Amino acid sequence: MRYAPIDPELFTGNRDRLKRLLLPNSLAVVNANDVLPANADAVLPLKPNPDLFYLTGIEQEESMLLLFPDAADEKHREILFLRQPDPRLETWEGHKLTQAEARKISGVARVEWLADFPALFHRLMCECDHVYLNANEHARAHIIVETREARFVKETRRKYPLHDYQRLAPLLHRLRAVKSDTEVALIRKACAITEAGFRRACQIVKPGRNEMEVEAEFAREFIRRGGGFAYAPIIAAGSNACALHYQQNDQPCRSGQLLLLDVGASYANYNADMTRTIPVNGRFTRRQKKVYNAVLRVLRAVSAAATPGKLPRDWQKEADALVEQELVDLGLLKQSDIRRQNPDKPAFRKYFMHGIGHPLGLDVHDLAPAAGPIQAGWVLTVEPGIYIREEGLGIRLENNFLIQNGGNVDLMAGIPIEADAIEDLMHR
Ligand code: GLY
Ligand code: MN
Ligand code: MN
Repeated sequence: MRYAPIDPELFTGNRDRLKRLLLPNSLAVVNANDVLPANADAVLPLKPNPDLFYLTGIEQEESMLLLFPDAADEKHREILFLRQPDPRLETWEGHKLTQAEARKISGVARVEWLADFPALFHRLMCECDHVYLNANEHARAHIIVETREARFVKETRRKYPLHDYQRLAPLLHRLRAVKSDTEVALIRKACAITEAGFRRACQIVKPGRNEMEVEAEFAREFIRRGGGFAYAPIIAAGSNACALHYQQNDQPCRSGQLLLLDVGASYANYNADMTRTIPVNGRFTRRQKKVYNAVLRVLRAVSAAATPGKLPRDWQKEADALVEQELVDLGLLKQSDIRRQNPDKPAFRKYFMHGIGHPLGLDVHDLAPAAGPIQAGWVLTVEPGIYIREEGLGIRLENNFLIQNGGNVDLMAGIPIEADAIEDLMHR
């Protein structure tokens, strides 16, 4: 493993919290993700299932967790199923978890091999009343392939059509949104790795560098520190920054341009999500600095405004209003544009066309309850931007905040963000 062992108390506590939300006499199952096929005989690297990881700390493919807190026999209350290691598997794929190792990672006392799942599952299905099954219910998920989880749901419902089925996802969204101290420490570690990458990147950015060389510096720092990219990095010089999900990262950086870096590290499956926008030649022009400071003011105000009890949509409206005012002050919008605008297509959207932030955790766009207010213990990104295509300029700044009563904590407070601090860093 590339990360230090995690106290299994995290996963035991998560399971206990979930069990308290289940109806009496319920059984719940969570499946690992598939190893997805690539071309020919190749496969993509396994992306661990975040729900399974949240409940067990287990990343290995084909693993299953079964919970049955009210089972008559204590040995049936929590069982982890793993693929059984064998010499052939070890020869081709290397080490697979032993039962003792899985017990130590997860804190689940009973670990069985997958071959024993069907018989045991049948027995317990005959004992329970409700069955909680899982699905990806992220509001923006677009799923065209059938997951291992979905196949399990389909097969279980086919075999046991008369059970009462319940959705696990809303419960997990509620739980996963609120981060424990251990989780916050892991996100902090991801932020620290991100900071190391950013500081290194700033040392090498200069006119003539290609975006991909900058990406390579992040990769070097992330990997040697036990991390990886939390998401495909966006390294966008000049007007490339106006394509919000630009991922080509193959263009030269020129003097006078800004370079937008939306790059975050992951550590132990927890993610950071940072954006900085830096001048390629080490100095902001007066105009760039003006727009930059406008974005930074919005970040400061909006991060303070993410208070427990506020609805995310009201928070977004406040952010929109702040950006709108900055756009007026920058001469990009006129009051008359605002008066005449279609309320469904407000004028500021020309320059600020995305959300102000999102929950962050085991997923970069992490889960939170579909309705309801921001809560203490959430980690939110705050990421205002102003994109001026006519000027070949896109500026976004993004930090990660732990939401707390009495003031949020900036988990990226150590990463330079003031325009002067960025210039200093680049001239060091
Ligand atoms: N890097 C993805 C995002 O900022 O949401
Ligand atoms: Mn980002
Ligand atoms: Mn983000």
